Amino acid sequence: MLPPVIETERLFLRGHVTADLDECAAMWGDPVVVRHIGGVTQARERVWTKLLAYIGHWRTLGYGFWVVRERGTERFVGEAGLADFRRELTPSFDGAPEAGWALASWAHGRGYATEAMRAVLAWSDAQLAAARTVCMIDDGHATSVRVAEKLGFRPWAETTLQGAPMRLFERRRA
Ligand SMILES: CC(C)(COP(=O)(O)OP(=O)(O)OC[C@H]1O[C@@H](n2cnc3c(N)ncnc32)[C@H](O)[C@@H]1OP(=O)(O)O)[C@@H](O)C(=O)NCCC(=O)NCCS
Repeated sequence: MLPPVIETERLFLRGHVTADLDECAAMWGDPVVVRHIGGVTQARERVWTKLLAYIGHWRTLGYGFWVVRERGTERFVGEAGLADFRRELTPSFDGAPEAGWALASWAHGRGYATEAMRAVLAWSDAQLAAARTVCMIDDGHATSVRVAEKLGFRPWAETTLQGAPMRLFERRRA
């Protein structure tokens, strides 16, 4: 399946294309963005592999991540969506689609993460068989926890990822 284009009040979401590389790499190369996502910036080469994986994820599993842009300006806002990363976590996500969101730092603090993810979850509630979605947030990342709460995620478990404490959340289909 190809990712559908989704429009919200201020944003639009569409699947990754190779021309997104520079903007994706700029986001993942920003220390502010990765502060609560492993803490290490990602090289352009690694972002290219991720971009190709996002394209393949949609074709293989029928869902995935979108690039988020601002309506009108078309400015790159970030990435949002759902994925199966086959994480080796305890407890296991057990095949539930994992929600994720990351915005370029200029776009923080405008409600864009919540607006984009509401659209993602409305799409998945209507289109995917999964009754449950999950997400993982760094223990100290209060802003993202707030986003998760606003989206209807509830605390489910605590775990560690490469030694870092993480909070796991789950959400039932609306
Ligand atoms: C975390 C991130 C997604 C938030 O995006 P955003 O568009 O600014 O989020 P929203 O504006 O939709 O919502 C932020 C909420 O957190 C609240 N908030 C902000 N700072 C906070 C803090 N220190 N503690 C608690 N809540 C906080 C805001 O008030 C807002 O809640 P409200 O609408 O009830 O007022 C964005 O900063 C980002 O992309 N960061 C880098 C990548 C990242 O960390 N991704 C998430 C990985 S789990």
